[in-house]
Amino acid sequence: MKIGIFDSGLGGLIILKDIIKKLPQYDYVYLGDSARVPYGNRSQETIYEFTKQAVDFLFKQDCQLVIIACNTASSEALRKIQQEWLPEYSNETGVMGNGRRVLGVIKPVVEKAAQVSKRKVGVIGTKGTISSEAYVKELGKLKSQLEVIQTATPLLVPLIEEGWIKSDITKKVLRKYLRSLKNVNIDTLILGCTHYPVLQKEIKGIMGKSVQVLNSGEIVAESLADYLQRHSEIESKLAKNSDYKFYVTDISQHYQELGEKWFSEDVKFEKIALK
Ligand code: DGL
Repeated sequence: MKIGIFDSGLGGLIILKDIIKKLPQYDYVYLGDSARVPYGNRSQETIYEFTKQAVDFLFKQDCQLVIIACNTASSEALRKIQQEWLPEYSNETGVMGNGRRVLGVIKPVVEKAAQVSKRKVGVIGTKGTISSEAYVKELGKLKSQLEVIQTATPLLVPLIEEGWIKSDITKKVLRKYLRSLKNVNIDTLILGCTHYPVLQKEIKGIMGKSVQVLNSGEIVAESLADYLQRHSEIESKLAKNSDYKFYVTDISQHYQELGEKWFSEDVKFEKIALK
């Protein structure tokens, strides 16, 4: 049995890299829906449909534990997958109680934010992530006295994918997006998107030392390690050959370059179709 990692595209490789750094011994299957990325501006129904197909594919690759690394899919689809689809899927396939789990990235990051924040938490993410209010709701459940201020930052994914990290344009865009959060004196900022760790240094530079910037890659890796420690019934069944497989729904020169930049020089993608 393997661990599946799903993202709308290749940004999830940034999260997977942090996970593998912490837990290299397991077998991982990565799936990036590169033919249909970005999910960030899509409707909830569409994101749910696409995510279901992806999780189904990963289940069929012997991944009983699937992590949705995509913030947009975690925000818009995870709850419905856990509450409605998973029980149905289990009935249809006769594997009820067979321990299939689907986890997302919102909860671990929210738990960390609740630990470190005293007053105000800022959240940046795609339009889908922000409009779902997933972070606001989860933080409200854990620590209702925290104020949560959100801003959608849709231009960051294309800028990061273009590699415009040090560019003046990116700095200007970041300053404009972050101004509203800086003006209200947040003490913690959640980077609510697979890609944003790439801009972490620049974001920290703008927000200043008084703001704790939370990077989901490191937090999700920590939380997975903790989860596996608490669930020995799952951990004991996981293959430990450090075998990593990468599936995508479209391959191009651009995607290959992103894979090499964000994961490793020798990343090899296999193209599959989701339905
Ligand atoms: N993976 C998405 C996320 O973390 C960003 C890219 C997209 O919009 O699909 O929200």
